[in-house]
Amino acid sequence: MVAPVLKPNDPCWCGSGSKFKRCHRASTERVRPGRLSPTRPVPAHIPRPSYAETGIPKDWDEPLVKSPEVIERMRRAGRAAAEVLRDAAALVKPGITTDELDAFVHDECIRRGGYPSPLNYRGFPKSLCTSVNEVICHGIPDNRRLEDGDIVNLDVTIFLDGVHGDTNLTVPVGTVDPGSLRLIEVTRECTALGIAAVRPGQPVNAIGRAIQTHAEANGFEVVRAFIGHGIGEQFHTNLQIPHYYERRARTVMEPGMTFTVEPMISAGSWDHDIWDDDWTAVTVDNSRVAQFEHTLVVTDDGAEILTLPGD
Ligand code: MF3
Ligand code: CO
Ligand code: CO
Repeated sequence: MVAPVLKPNDPCWCGSGSKFKRCHRASTERVRPGRLSPTRPVPAHIPRPSYAETGIPKDWDEPLVKSPEVIERMRRAGRAAAEVLRDAAALVKPGITTDELDAFVHDECIRRGGYPSPLNYRGFPKSLCTSVNEVICHGIPDNRRLEDGDIVNLDVTIFLDGVHGDTNLTVPVGTVDPGSLRLIEVTRECTALGIAAVRPGQPVNAIGRAIQTHAEANGFEVVRAFIGHGIGEQFHTNLQIPHYYERRARTVMEPGMTFTVEPMISAGSWDHDIWDDDWTAVTVDNSRVAQFEHTLVVTDDGAEILTLPGD
């Protein structure tokens, strides 16, 4: 047996005898939109992706299989993204605003000579995605302070050496209920199992099959609307990597292909709404979501994860 994710009226997990919503969930009702800080500038010497000024990415038919030279650049971008993400996650604690995390990630990308890929991508206003509790993905950093008992996903992408490295993780803020901790752990396992299913000669739908099997065995659902993607000189290419079993996703994996695996796993419904900001995706039933993402390259016998810290 495993601990259930508590409903608002269940007795709190801490043993206080109060309802969960009045106790450890008390401060974590629904996430609401906050106020945005002014747009952060990027110094002129930083090489920019195609959309940096216009908001519209130039799209072209980028090969699925990358040259060794491109893969080497993606190793550098991936390592940088992973290190920025690790250092941003270390700052997470009750009271910090998501905007402060955005400022850190923005400055760190630039310090490393890179451009924070989310900034002005299809008009996204910030340099980091911060997705709290029931936010599935694409949360916009604002003046909301993280609260004890929240969970937050930080999604870092850097454009460095002409290529993107894309990675995210979900962390607890302060003391978090056991159900949410279990959601985070199972989601971490889902990402690992999805990556373990990467093998040349297999269709990409093997990845989603592995993820969905593990999520549903644990009583969770896989978000359908947001999927993994091909990546390289473009942030998102048209290669699609569903995190559920999709029979039609039959692209066969080949050594040198680069894409992300980034399952969003819901403690309740997989179905989503979008806020009026046209970005923030939330679960329709307000249940919490966790996510972990890596950028990887298919090798002769599996996958090499590109988004791991180098030190
Ligand atoms: N990093 C996200 C992904 O994993 C994409 C964010 S797009 C943005 O694909 F515009 F919201 F930044
Ligand atoms: Co991604
Ligand atoms: Co991402």
